[in-house]
Amino acid sequence: MDQQLQRRRLVIFPCPLQGHINPMLQLVSILHSHSKGALSITIVHAQFNSPNPSNYPDFNFLSITDGLSQSEIESSTKDVSAFLTILNRKCVEPFRDCLVNKILSQKHEPPVACLISDATMHFTQLVADSLQLPRIVLRTSSPMSFVGFAAFPDLRQKGYVPVRESELEAPVPEIPHLKLKDLPVIKSYNSEVFFQLAADMTNQTKASSGLIVNTFESLDKLALELLNKTFAVPIFAVGPFHKFSSASSSSSLMTPDQTCISWLNKQAPSSVVYVSFGSIASISKAKLVEIAMGLVNSEQSFLLVLRSGFIIDKSDDDKDKNEESYLTKLLPQKLNEMIMRGRGCIVKWAPQQEVLAHPSIGVFWTHCGWNSTLEGICEGVPMLCWPCFGDQMVNARFVSQVWRVGYQLENGLQRGDIERSLKRLMVQENNKEREEMMVRVKDLKEMAELCQKEGGSSFQSLQNLMDYIFSRNSDLKIAN
Ligand code: UDX
Repeated sequence: MDQQLQRRRLVIFPCPLQGHINPMLQLVSILHSHSKGALSITIVHAQFNSPNPSNYPDFNFLSITDGLSQSEIESSTKDVSAFLTILNRKCVEPFRDCLVNKILSQKHEPPVACLISDATMHFTQLVADSLQLPRIVLRTSSPMSFVGFAAFPDLRQKGYVPVRESELEAPVPEIPHLKLKDLPVIKSYNSEVFFQLAADMTNQTKASSGLIVNTFESLDKLALELLNKTFAVPIFAVGPFHKFSSASSSSSLMTPDQTCISWLNKQAPSSVVYVSFGSIASISKAKLVEIAMGLVNSEQSFLLVLRSGFIIDKSDDDKDKNEESYLTKLLPQKLNEMIMRGRGCIVKWAPQQEVLAHPSIGVFWTHCGWNSTLEGICEGVPMLCWPCFGDQMVNARFVSQVWRVGYQLENGLQRGDIERSLKRLMVQENNKEREEMMVRVKDLKEMAELCQKEGGSSFQSLQNLMDYIFSRNSDLKIAN
């Protein structure tokens, strides 16, 4: 292989949010191991949510000053669009300095082939252009939602957006299967901030040298066709990353509580509902009670992840309380009784991929973040979808209506809907709906496995991506 003859360096810039860090580090680990040492990896990262270098001894890490204030850091869960916009502004100079003074000036390192950065970190395109460095974009969230982002200017001009209450169920013109209520809007205190972010991400991806997406052809054929039409750059669908790579657990920002695995070991096969809403979504106390009562009334055993910061309307008094005693008081007595009887388990953060692969899991109740959606599909677990924002609405529509491997809670969190949906989804005698769903989800799981084998679509795309990277050559060295 030619690439073994000449070593190249890859510069990486992830977006510092859990759902973006995981796939970026998975991808980088895949590229590194596939290159058999021909790629040297330098990860430039913000100080906020920085990855742990000791988990990746093969990579170099360079931290840049992000200059985020405490209130800006807090916006990373409260107003993601505003947070990303600030980050795109504050990182420009530190990132440029780092490239010029710490990377491109190094004379004894292999030449930099290109930069790979998250689509949300759109500022990196202009910096890369100014240094004549090719940039390849990684879209970590779902590809179909990126098609939605690119469609916003047109949809706004034609008056579909902002979506009127009376048109929520209407189809989105030119994006099959989506309803207007599914458009991947990220809520922001100022909606213009979100639309500008979506436009910048789209335009800077159009200006890039290529686009990598975490999906596979047999799952996302339509999204890939639409992406090809929208972005006139080479597209590489090399997912599902987490199945190619061993990096997932080590990129976790929170420590997974392994005790839930011993608890799962004691449960009957397919008998547990796993409930987790990712790293950003948050809810009110009242909604948590709906979740709890839905679980209680469904009479299903559950493993529930309650991340710290998940409850948004904690009073000032409550903020100082011990999390465990606070939750025990907040959660209905009946749910606490189920836990005491061994029918329920609550953790702050779970080893999610291990949980989903566990034989006792029957259903995954998820917010449909793209990583969670892919992880559910790859373990052949049917889903109950409660999307909160952004690509999650698109993903939930595809899970429930296109791939038909789950149901969506269309009216938000209401205990009656939750109870009914869980009973429909879980194992029961003569549950034909579940049996048929299981056939479909196992088919997808099999397709995910096949695409990574020699001759499979992702296997081939990965090879194409490697060839493409090795054909890029900034060969740029800047003298100090
Ligand atoms: C964010 C967005 O919200 C999501 O819509 C987008 O697709 C990616 O970025 P997040 O909300 O955190 O991500 O959801 P998700 O994409 O599902 O990523 C969460 C990751 O954390 C998954 O890889 C999951 O395995 C992991 N996780 C989650 C754990 O390891 N333990 C947990 O308890 C919960």
